[in-house]
Amino acid sequence: MTQTPRFAKRMDGITGSAIRELFKITARPGVISFGGGNPSPAALPDEIVADISRELVAGNGKVLLQYGMTEGLPALRESLVPYIEKEFGVKTTADQILPVTGSTQAFNLLMDAYTDPGDVILTEDPTFLGATQAMALHQLKIVPVECDDEGLKTDALEEAILKYHPRMLYTIPTFQNPTGVTMPLERRKKIAELAEKYDLLVAEDDPYRSLRYTGESLPTIKSFDKSGKVVLMGSFSKVISPGLRVAFMVCEPVLLRKCTICKQSDDLHTANLNQAIVDAYLRRDLLTPHIENISKNYRAQMEEMLSCLKNVRGIEHYTKPEGGLFIFCYLKEGVNATDMLMKAVEKGVAYVPGTYFYPNGGHENTLRLNFSNSDIPTIRRGMALLDECLK
Ligand SMILES: Cc1ncc(COP(=O)(O)O)c(C=O)c1O
Repeated sequence: MTQTPRFAKRMDGITGSAIRELFKITARPGVISFGGGNPSPAALPDEIVADISRELVAGNGKVLLQYGMTEGLPALRESLVPYIEKEFGVKTTADQILPVTGSTQAFNLLMDAYTDPGDVILTEDPTFLGATQAMALHQLKIVPVECDDEGLKTDALEEAILKYHPRMLYTIPTFQNPTGVTMPLERRKKIAELAEKYDLLVAEDDPYRSLRYTGESLPTIKSFDKSGKVVLMGSFSKVISPGLRVAFMVCEPVLLRKCTICKQSDDLHTANLNQAIVDAYLRRDLLTPHIENISKNYRAQMEEMLSCLKNVRGIEHYTKPEGGLFIFCYLKEGVNATDMLMKAVEKGVAYVPGTYFYPNGGHENTLRLNFSNSDIPTIRRGMALLDECLK
């Protein structure tokens, strides 16, 4: 019999994403899944990327296939400057931008460079599970802060700052994962003010902002940052392809330098070819029409799911996002969405129980629905099955 090896202490209590385990059950053939968070296969620009890749390798293959700089492909850093100004409202320079391997890496580098085990990190409650797993691996003490249908409550945030003296706040202000809610302007400004007042580093994770289907775009928290306390993380995963693993972080050069050093021993650099593909998307103005195109379908899918939700018995309240990929639902107090999931899968529909997104658990009566991965007839059928199950 083989003995269980002794693992690092930081692995204590870390079991891997419960959601990924759930997907194995919910991925049964014939089950309509509202569970994932993937872009729709129809939104992945395989043919364009194939053409661009061939052209890039034919033209500059000896450079792209060689080792690159940890700081990123110079061309991409340059093309990110106007993109970040236009899309995120942040005036920046190439020395404040680091291309990274997914915004997942940006957040990990930030914690590598800025936190020590035992430091307190504040998060929204609920929040993105991938981020809480990374916080746990950094042995941070996670303190979730109360949210409402407009995101993080800034009075609760200030109380938590005074009580816990956190090192960092992690927030997803636009079309949040898992709730889909967007933080209004005043709260964004307030967070930038609190960051300055209490010397708190804010990690602003904004991968969904370009996927807006209705309403007006809101400024980033970073755009109100006068003291260099906000780090902006953006990603091309949801708007071009998650498989390319290209994202970026924007912050003050001193902190960026520390993150770059951490990246050296992490993956040395983000894949050159993938950076060059994203650079071509930006330089050739391919991104805006692509986003407009995919947003048409996503908007129709979101509207259909919201409209179906009016008739799903058993759901007492749900968020009404203006973009992104998710809607969050609240069942009657006392109903357990995890227990209901097996029943739902038997009927032929799946979702993610919301409890997994709450760092301290609980909130068993919540669930997350994804609308990007199902076409309209599938959404109608799936929501009818959900109604049958929850009624
Ligand atoms: C809020 C949030 N941040 C980051 C990510 C991961 O992004 P990336 O693919 O750039 O690592 C996701 C993916 O689901 C997400 O929902």
